[in-house]
Amino acid sequence: MTDTPVGIDAIEIHTGKLKLDLAETFAPAMGDSPEKYTKGLGLHASSFPDTYEDIVTMGANAAHRLMDRKGLEPDDIGRIDVATESAFDHSKPVSTYIAGCLEQRFEGNFHHANKGERKFACVAGTQSIDDAYNWIRADRHRGRAALVIATDTALYARDDPGESTQGAGAVAMLIDEDPNLVELSTEQGYGSADETDFLKPQQQFPSVDGKRSVKVYLARMREALVDYERVGGTIHPDDFRLGPFHTPFPGMVRKAAVLAYRHITRGTDIEDELAEDIGKQPRREAFDDEEAFMDALADYTDELKETDHYLEWYDRTIDPTLDIARQVGNWYTGSVHVARVSGLKSLAEAGEDAVGQNLLVGSYGSGAQAEIHVETVQENWLDEIDALNIDEQLENRYDLTFEEYEDVHDAHNYDEDSSVEEFTAPDGEFVFDGWGRMGERKYRYVE
Ligand code: CAA
Repeated sequence: MTDTPVGIDAIEIHTGKLKLDLAETFAPAMGDSPEKYTKGLGLHASSFPDTYEDIVTMGANAAHRLMDRKGLEPDDIGRIDVATESAFDHSKPVSTYIAGCLEQRFEGNFHHANKGERKFACVAGTQSIDDAYNWIRADRHRGRAALVIATDTALYARDDPGESTQGAGAVAMLIDEDPNLVELSTEQGYGSADETDFLKPQQQFPSVDGKRSVKVYLARMREALVDYERVGGTIHPDDFRLGPFHTPFPGMVRKAAVLAYRHITRGTDIEDELAEDIGKQPRREAFDDEEAFMDALADYTDELKETDHYLEWYDRTIDPTLDIARQVGNWYTGSVHVARVSGLKSLAEAGEDAVGQNLLVGSYGSGAQAEIHVETVQENWLDEIDALNIDEQLENRYDLTFEEYEDVHDAHNYDEDSSVEEFTAPDGEFVFDGWGRMGERKYRYVE
């Protein structure tokens, strides 16, 4: 065992190259008010893959940029784990396809790297980071780093309520000793239960009980927070600078944030200060029946979310983590990692010195499991954040009309036999290049 600090050394994001404007394009076509998206769900646009993009190209392009920027060779990588809930093969893992792509561009190969694929809905990206952390801490890594890639095309069936929250993109992360970006806490909390809220039993698009999925998210996140406190100690709002949470849509995080704030202010100086205006938090022991207690708690929470204390905390701690999600939608396994980047990027843009600050990271996967841990910002974080080109990628996305969106959805639907022309020209990236003799997908690099 080693006790060297382990965490995320570097990160790269690759967004799908198409954009669907939810307020301007999607809402009118669906007969919805634009505010349902911009205010209710908190989303302005979704990213979509062009016809030559998929989970492999997006993941490989993010990883390629990361390795290139950090001057890495395949020999420096001892492990490649891909987290996805959009896999197209039940046996051969996506990591082998991505390694194959990267080998087209780098000297050497990944023949001695352990490769795998992680599945537990959206929490799998964080689980892959855990696996890499444990592998390094167990000193089985031979000085090498791990590549963790979270990549998804989060598409829903047409006319499913989830269609409003789609997205596509990949996040590549380098997990290493003495990391440049954030160190991970050893302490973790879990909230996990057998739930039937969102699943894909042998089907491409999910079956979703949307309203229930929201409740399950909140319940499991709460359990994970309580479980974290058992090992990490009681959390106070002043303990952390940002709270990146899994963001299926920003409105979901808004619902979670007020519950988290209520929990972490209970029994604190903040609860005392708030008591003058909204009273103390209801305590279970003061109520004879559960229903009356829950009603009182709901009333307290409604008042809490209007207080200056809460609104200031939300604006400072949560809102910055949602900036990118508002523009790209849900990236499933990548979503919480986009939230981390989004928050750190906003601190960088504000010129804030974040070294030593803590992040309370809340990951979630349907089915269902939440995980909470803490990350500490490292000395070279700013170099890593400044190196991102996500603004440029977002700016360059092709803006789809509604008819084009319908075509793109069909192009990525396994059950549709459609031939749709690409909307953008590939430039210095991996592209899907047709099918091989055993039904495998093939890829090539376009200069
Ligand atoms: N102005 C302002 N707000 C408006 C509005 C308007 N004109 N019209 C609607 N709204 C609000 C609604 O009040 C609602 O907000 P509240 O929930 O706070 O009341 C919000 O906009 C959404 O409106 P609806 O509830 O009417 O939207 P919907 O019926 O289309 O469904 C959804 C929303 C259930 C989230 C659906 O998009 C869905 O099923 N999404 C996929 C599942 C999902 O993302 N679940 C999240 C938890 S599970 C998870 O996190 C895993 C994962 O990644 C999938």
